[in-house]
Amino acid sequence: MAQFHFVEDYQAYVKHLLATKPLDEAMSEAIGGSYEKIGHIEKDIVTYAGLKEGMKLIDYGCGSGRLAHALGISIKIDYLGIDVVDELLNYAASKSPAHYQFLNHQALNVPAEETSVDMVCAFSLFTHLLHTETYLYLEDMQRVLRPGGRMVFSFLEFAMPSHWSVFEATVAQQRNSQVPHLNIFIEKNAIQCWANQLGFKVIELINGDIEKFNGKALGQSIAILEK
Ligand SMILES: C[S@@+](CC[C@H](N)C(=O)[O-])C[C@H]1O[C@@H](n2cnc3c(N)ncnc32)[C@H](O)[C@@H]1O
Repeated sequence: MAQFHFVEDYQAYVKHLLATKPLDEAMSEAIGGSYEKIGHIEKDIVTYAGLKEGMKLIDYGCGSGRLAHALGISIKIDYLGIDVVDELLNYAASKSPAHYQFLNHQALNVPAEETSVDMVCAFSLFTHLLHTETYLYLEDMQRVLRPGGRMVFSFLEFAMPSHWSVFEATVAQQRNSQVPHLNIFIEKNAIQCWANQLGFKVIELINGDIEKFNGKALGQSIAILEK
């Protein structure tokens, strides 16, 4: 059976990094770098979005544990990290509290019971998926969230001048007849439309350059939706 493009893409990328760099460097670069700094900003974002002690969080596309590591040293929660690359998941587990769970799950759905989760987050995940894939994930994330539960995700958009360089680099790869690493932009009006269709309320759409999280900005824009 053909693999999903994202499985093939990320597994090959991580394999290449592990063959060419020391472990910590490879594990940080595989998810975009700045392991400690971005992990803390992501932790501040989910806290801002309402994550509290004792809640259940699913971190979709958790990578090597940037967020799990930052959460582990600051708040006691029930955490499940999902990804498609074993090496990233194993590293994430090694950087997180022992009770955190990690799962390799390769399907366009969420492996959790209906209304069983307080928050789902997906940082820099939908930036690498087709809109139809993102929509299927959002649909199932809505299913697993409890009423009032929140969905937090980051995205790239043409309205943000700082995101243009990502598009330009992807175009350059295409121009050189390379198969580009998928970098997908999602405009705010698409998020509003998907939220309407899926029964989410849009709580806030935050521009990526706003220094709102302990004086820092994530870079990617952020959507906070509520079931
Ligand atoms: C750019 S990294 C971000 C990692 C993490 N969210 C963070 O911010 O540190 C994207 C991650 O999503 C994972 N990924 C990509 N597509 C996925 C999918 N469909 N299901 C689960 N994980 C996926 C990749 O393996 C990679 O670890």
